[in-house]
Amino acid sequence: MFPDAPLDPRSARGGNMTVVRTKVGVFCVVMMLNVFVCILMFLSWNKSDKSGHHLVLVPSQGFWQQNVLSKSFWNREQQRLDFIYNPIINSAFSSNSFAMLPHWLNETGPLNPCEPDYRVHTQIKDYNSLPQRFQDFLLYMHCRTFPLLINQPHVCDDTPFLLLAVKSLVPHFDRRQAIRETWGRAGVLANRTVVTVFLLGSTLPTDHFPDLLWLLVHEAALHKDLIQWDYRDTFFNLTLKEVLFLEWFSKHCPKAQYILKGDDDVFVNTLRIVDLLKDLSEVKAKDLFIGDVISNAGPHRNQKLKYFIPESVFEGQYPDYAGGGGYLFSGQLALRLYNISWQVALYPIDDVYTGMCLNKLGLAPEKHTGFRTFDIEEKYRSTPCIYRSLMLVHGRTPQEMLKLWPWIIHPELDCQ
Ligand SMILES: *[C@@H]1O[C@H](CO)[C@@H](O)[C@H](O)[C@H]1NC(C)=O
Ligand SMILES: *[C@@H]1O[C@H](CO)[C@@H](O)[C@H](O)[C@H]1NC(C)=O
Ligand SMILES: *[C@@H]1O[C@H](CO)[C@@H](O)[C@H](O)[C@H]1NC(C)=O
Ligand SMILES: *[C@@H]1O[C@H](CO)[C@@H](O)[C@H](O)[C@H]1NC(C)=O
Repeated sequence: MFPDAPLDPRSARGGNMTVVRTKVGVFCVVMMLNVFVCILMFLSWNKSDKSGHHLVLVPSQGFWQQNVLSKSFWNREQQRLDFIYNPIINSAFSSNSFAMLPHWLNETGPLNPCEPDYRVHTQIKDYNSLPQRFQDFLLYMHCRTFPLLINQPHVCDDTPFLLLAVKSLVPHFDRRQAIRETWGRAGVLANRTVVTVFLLGSTLPTDHFPDLLWLLVHEAALHKDLIQWDYRDTFFNLTLKEVLFLEWFSKHCPKAQYILKGDDDVFVNTLRIVDLLKDLSEVKAKDLFIGDVISNAGPHRNQKLKYFIPESVFEGQYPDYAGGGGYLFSGQLALRLYNISWQVALYPIDDVYTGMCLNKLGLAPEKHTGFRTFDIEEKYRSTPCIYRSLMLVHGRTPQEMLKLWPWIIHPELDCQ
């Protein structure tokens, strides 16, 4: 019946349904036995925990069948994290007991995660021929703690209803100023407190950036809305920006109700966003994560593309994720995302990474047609009323932002 597509490749030769059925039956019995053994082990751990015994129990080789390492580096790092954070194993091990890794997972990187991880030279067969950005990423993939150079510890003292967190780059002074004068104007909007912060890394001379430090220091003092970390601000390090922001949020702004995280070249209809959020039910609000959702995507294998990822680095499909141009989520969810991010290996594409973290929490982003991270049709781009119904569009210059904003807030503009 399935000459070319047998259910189980190992039972392919027989091609006989009864054989397949018997195998399925045997498989089920084995699975049930496994579950039974698992429950027994779990119970026995709990018991000895109560009696105060320190138990270190490694599941027997036969039971623990997952000892197949992925061929791709990121997947292997994730297998390791999954093992370390496995809730059942965890009840016996402490969470950072790398020493307890079974031998098939024991090749851990350097003790200090911010030291370069030279395993990559031998563990990734085509490492030397990968584009430089991959080499840079892989060598420091485990490092996620960087000092704050500029902080705004009091920016959330007046608890925001909506925090606008804008990913920017040091030289983009005009984009930031246009946002401050338009959709990112901090203060009270529609009777809700809105706070804006710009997220920056460092632009280094090695990447041929001019030295703009003194201008930046001046800007920070003037507007008190810049947050800067001491790491190299590149495309592949945007994931760092994401986790560093979540860390900052947990520390300095954990009570903000909602966050809109976006690029500095998106135009946001802040009024509509506040309106949408005002009407949310509490249940819906808690796990809110909406944006321009991309489904059924996977890594691009064409070297020439911006989103190229080699097979030696990642295999598999991406979970649903919201395009990084801009998405809206709840503060409570941000705290959970920060927590879970420690259990997800850094991935060089930031929006995919956030999708992976959501997936790990058992959640998925929700698609909203008002989020246009791929812009709208050319013919509508100068139609004022279109912008009233949108939440976010990607790809607007500072001048366009200043032109669009009055269209949003102009009370005379009659759009029906
Ligand atoms: C890791 O496992 C290999 C065998 O697979 C063994 O030779 C090596 O000593 C182990 N390393 C550590 C640190 O346990
Ligand atoms: C403004 O919002 C607060 C709660 O955030 C509410 O108590 C107050 O009634 C609102 N004022 C107006 C004019 O809607
Ligand atoms: C990310 O930042 C770190 C710290 O500055 C740097 O060592 C690394 O090269 C950067 N990675 C990429 C891909 O730019
Ligand atoms: C994050 O994890 C810590 C400890 O693992 C826990 O105490 C805290 O409640 C968690 N926070 C959230 C928001 O899940």
